[in-house]
Amino acid sequence: MKPRRTERGPTRFSAAGRCRAVRGGVAAVVVAAFLVAVPPASAADPASAADPAGAVASPVPAPGWTHLRERAYLPSDFDGEVFDALWTVWEEPARSRAEAADPAERRRMTMDRYGLVPDPLDPSRSLQYVVDDAGRWTMSCLACHQGTVAGRAVPGVPNSRYALETLTEEVRQVKIRQGKALGHMDLGSLVMPLGTTAGTTNAVMFGVALMRHRAPDLSIVPRPPRLDLAHHDVDAPAWWHYASRKRIYADAFAPKGHRMLMQFLLVKENGPERFREWEGEFREIEAWIASLEPPAWTGPFDAPLAERGRGLFAAHCADCHGTYDGPRGGPGRRYPERVVPIDEIGTDRARFDSLSTADRAALNGSWFAGASAEAGVDAPAGYVAPPLDGVWASAPYFHNGSVPTLWHVLHPEARPAVWRRLDAPGAAAVADAADAPRDYDPQRVGLAVEERETLPEGRMTSAQRRTWFDTARPGKGAGGHEFFGSLDEDAKRALLEYLKSL
Ligand code: HEC
Ligand code: HEC
Repeated sequence: MKPRRTERGPTRFSAAGRCRAVRGGVAAVVVAAFLVAVPPASAADPASAADPAGAVASPVPAPGWTHLRERAYLPSDFDGEVFDALWTVWEEPARSRAEAADPAERRRMTMDRYGLVPDPLDPSRSLQYVVDDAGRWTMSCLACHQGTVAGRAVPGVPNSRYALETLTEEVRQVKIRQGKALGHMDLGSLVMPLGTTAGTTNAVMFGVALMRHRAPDLSIVPRPPRLDLAHHDVDAPAWWHYASRKRIYADAFAPKGHRMLMQFLLVKENGPERFREWEGEFREIEAWIASLEPPAWTGPFDAPLAERGRGLFAAHCADCHGTYDGPRGGPGRRYPERVVPIDEIGTDRARFDSLSTADRAALNGSWFAGASAEAGVDAPAGYVAPPLDGVWASAPYFHNGSVPTLWHVLHPEARPAVWRRLDAPGAAAVADAADAPRDYDPQRVGLAVEERETLPEGRMTSAQRRTWFDTARPGKGAGGHEFFGSLDEDAKRALLEYLKSL
């Protein structure tokens, strides 16, 4: 895919998802820009807000996409009355601002606070939650797996703003005020951290905790809860990589397959028969995920510089990350799915250490792996080198989301110790001062962030604290992947340019 030069000037972006036919012959008819939402940052980018082509939904959506948008596979999380009252528990000045706003604007502010993306077909809803006829909101896969980049909701781009723990905490407060029963998330979050930094979640440990209560055929077995879990947060990967992978997750231990995607449904309300009943829908969800293509970079681009970067990439990076010449599936594409030993890669090892061989074997020996073509790997050596196509769009980087831009990946010594996105709730003062889009840094290629040596002094609410990524905390280290020793500044500039084109 050749990047196009932007026609909107150096800080304007547009990103449209691309789609190709699904393997196995099912045609996934998904219109390229079907998913473009009006982002919170649209005020900073009038071009995107005024782009009506983006706001149309596909006339024939793929069945997998429809399931993701419309099927509630879990017990519901809250109702519309709770959602509309969330602002009443916010800190000042956010609360007063919400009080003064009209209901539509208040909903927009609410979605912005929790990293929810307004549904382009009905902006009173978000893409992350399925809403049923009774007005109940239920978390879907898109909670973590559908975000925005440069203001656009590209299909499969991870939700790097999702504030699950803050949302759950505040939902619980409102439910108590409204005298409503607490749900599985409200209670679960009392014993289990959900995500200590907005944009990343403890999803891996949710899976381990829930698997504890299942036999290999997924029937429910009463066992005391596990108390030895090494909680840590992980950044959801881009879904357009799925087609290239044989095994999934940061350490590539689990074989891919539609059943493997159903782990997220392991709540006690879903007995083994439910999994079998929903299997067909997950085949379609898997087909949709496998059909996704990375979005093309449309920002400023220096083709001769990138061409130099291509040569450097071939020499220094391709052994691990593969080659990206020509169309997907063509001879210029090779993805080795190389797993790099943990001491050699040197990135934060909490995710690697958090799963024991027995934990991995429990998953790989269960019904979830039963429909996969490959075998799982119960004792992987380290982390997999991920595919890098569309890498410009999936910031922050590394499995724990600890590095905000590709420039910082290439400059390990300059990675910030503490950072916050400019479009984080409460960061408006900084954003207003910056003459750039609030959510994207086109120079350093990744998130537009504020950097610090240490966390700011003074009292913060837990919601505010979670907007800061603190690399000193367990599981959040930003070190490692230091393969750039022989590369000078010119070479790094060329590599950065090349990475935009993938
Ligand atoms: C709470 C957030 C969250 C939800 C909800 C969620 N995921 Fe994920 N997902 C993650 C995280 C985090 C990872 C990375 C885990 C790892 O690498 O160890 C992941 C990994 C994946 C991967 C592997 C990608 C790769 O390249 O390795 C797929 C595919 C996936 N999820 C699909 C789904 C589907 C389908 C659903 C709904 C049934 C779902 N996820 C629900 C957070 C979530
Ligand atoms: C020895 C194998 C190896 C080499 C050589 C290597 N990488 Fe990586 N790379 C990895 C692994 C493994 C990861 C995942 C680390 C993690 O998530 O903790 C990674 C992650 C990355 C990421 C972050 C991807 C994401 O989605 O988070 C980028 C960008 C990247 N590498 C670029 C490069 C570039 C550019 C080069 C060449 C200068 C290079 N790598 C050389 C193994 C390698």
